[in-house]
Amino acid sequence: MASKLSSVIEVKQFKERELLEEIFSLAEEMETADKQGMYGKLALTTRKKILATLFYEPSTRTRLSFESAMIRLGGEVISTEDAPTFSSVTKGESLVDTIRVIGSYADVIVLRHHEEGSSKIATEVSPVPIINAGDGTGQHPTQALLDIYTIRKELGRIDDLEVGLAGDLLYGRTVHSLTYLLAQQKGIKLYFVSPEEIRLPRDIIHYLEEEKGGKEDKVSFEETTDLKEIISKVDVLYVTRIQKERFRNIEDYNRLRGSYVIDKEMVSLMKKTSRILHPLPRVDEIAIEVDNDPRAAYFRQVHNGLYLRMALLKMILD
Ligand code: NCD
Repeated sequence: MASKLSSVIEVKQFKERELLEEIFSLAEEMETADKQGMYGKLALTTRKKILATLFYEPSTRTRLSFESAMIRLGGEVISTEDAPTFSSVTKGESLVDTIRVIGSYADVIVLRHHEEGSSKIATEVSPVPIINAGDGTGQHPTQALLDIYTIRKELGRIDDLEVGLAGDLLYGRTVHSLTYLLAQQKGIKLYFVSPEEIRLPRDIIHYLEEEKGGKEDKVSFEETTDLKEIISKVDVLYVTRIQKERFRNIEDYNRLRGSYVIDKEMVSLMKKTSRILHPLPRVDEIAIEVDNDPRAAYFRQVHNGLYLRMALLKMILD
């Protein structure tokens, strides 16, 4: 079967519900096979493939989950953990040259880079598929896929949902990708909760208002600074940290951090059936006391990420 997927650059590639469903069911198969120890079922069908992880920004989950996913599929991994320090980037090598070179060694490259649009540029020169693992403040499509997969697993649907996205909506690339992905589903109402200074970028608001268009599939949304105003309405509360490293001025960060803290009291205002998601890492925006609440789904979300990424790799490489 020809692969339906090559590079993964942005969530707009996943407009087709059929493709999403295919990824979800493959991820479920991966989880079942993994849990039953049926590793043969997981293996890639062709020769041992090699995944390269090339990260210019820090990461724990994304890099290690892709690497773990590849190893579980029977593949191998090569990696530069901190490309700006430990690769030829220090000698002045450009991203496109680095990609051309790594593309000769690996069958797929997972790239995290500080510049928006870098993954797209990489695909133009890469001899092998590129997976965008975060391009600056742009997108983080595989995170959004695992987020929506988690929503489906937890709530049984990805349509007819009220979703609150809270925290750093300006710099948080996971919010950008998830907003686009949710906007592609039906009956979605979004609440964007942030301090004024770090509201969702206006081009995404414009997309929701104009480009998305069409009467039936129009996404309704509200922007607010007050979490309490919306917390009792949402089916999903997607919490993000304030992205310290993106601020030019540390005083601004210090003023905005702690804007929203989800503690037991806040959670008590939420519906019993709702869920709290967070791409992690968290700093102080969700109190540890919330972790044992059944609505806290963020560690289950991490686990889902592994299987979702196995599914993506399998689709790309087989
Ligand atoms: C996110 C990222 O790198 O954008 N982390 C992740 O991949 N789970 C979120 C963040 O760093 O806040």
